[in-house]
Amino acid sequence: MRGAGRGRVLVTGAGTGIGRACALYLAEEGFHILASGRRAEPLEKLAAEKPGQVTPVQFDVTDPESIEAVVPGLSPIDHVVNNAGIAVMGAIEAVPLDEWRRQFETNVFGVANVCRAVLPQMRQRGAGRIVNIGSVTGRLVPPFQGVYGSSKHALEGLTDALRREVAPFGIGVSLIRSGFVNTSFGDQEQEQLKKHRMDAYGEHHDTYSKWHHEQGHKVAPEPVVVAQAVERALTDANPRTRYSCPPKATRLILLRALLPARIVDGMIERTIRS
Ligand SMILES: NC(=O)c1ccc[n+]([C@@H]2O[C@H](COP(=O)([O-])OP(=O)(O)OC[C@H]3O[C@@H](n4cnc5c(N)ncnc54)[C@H](OP(=O)(O)O)[C@@H]3O)[C@@H](O)[C@H]2O)c1
Repeated sequence: MRGAGRGRVLVTGAGTGIGRACALYLAEEGFHILASGRRAEPLEKLAAEKPGQVTPVQFDVTDPESIEAVVPGLSPIDHVVNNAGIAVMGAIEAVPLDEWRRQFETNVFGVANVCRAVLPQMRQRGAGRIVNIGSVTGRLVPPFQGVYGSSKHALEGLTDALRREVAPFGIGVSLIRSGFVNTSFGDQEQEQLKKHRMDAYGEHHDTYSKWHHEQGHKVAPEPVVVAQAVERALTDANPRTRYSCPPKATRLILLRALLPARIVDGMIERTIRS
């Protein structure tokens, strides 16, 4: 463990996957973790693994009242990792609008809700970092990921505006563009692809689902790679506006930035059919 007492970090969605990896890694690095989620059980298990270093707290990021009931009592909150997220998958045409809304309620409005709750105390202290967990899909959106991808695209915009708004208060804001990592997110995405399968997209949909299943989360690195990027965003003297991980994600984002969209379309099709 390096340098105990490096501050208190609120991590949303800390009970599983990337959030849990962030909580464990940051606790190891000397931060105190305010580990939040909707379910008590995984948070208590996490707290038991790092006695005295993790405080479990329960709220739903889509429910401002549940946030307000808890967050003011957690003061001081030095930093926030907005990690809680869900994935709604399927063709744009196939996904019902209430599912679109559920996606944005969590991945976009949930982040806004948490920021609104923590910013007053961060502004007052004139310090702090906010790290939003975005996705490569927020920059490079494959077919059948349009609902999830547009929520992460919106998070890119939210992050840019927030960074420019709160810089005068001494608060830093970064976004992590994560590629596939090995969490149960992949199972959730596969269920979504099955649920929203539309016969009209038959072979195209099935090819994508198969590629996603076989080449996606299952063969991806462990979520600690994201935790390491989060730690950099919290501790770099001048935090970057974006961090990407793992290295494959960085390459994809570079290609997306350099190549014309039609070339990228072809690349995506060739990749999912490979
Ligand atoms: N895995 C990847 O390959 C990948 C790649 C890029 C970006 N990401 C992003 O990384 C983040 C974490 O994903 P993950 O892979 O770790 O998946 P995960 O294990 O499913 O984690 C998502 C977490 O968010 C929590 N959550 C969902 N809705 C919530 C709500 N309304 N209020 C509070 N907590 C809520 C879940 O808690 P409950 O137990 O309460 O449902 C869960 O702990 C997401 O934002 C995701 O978009 C993941």
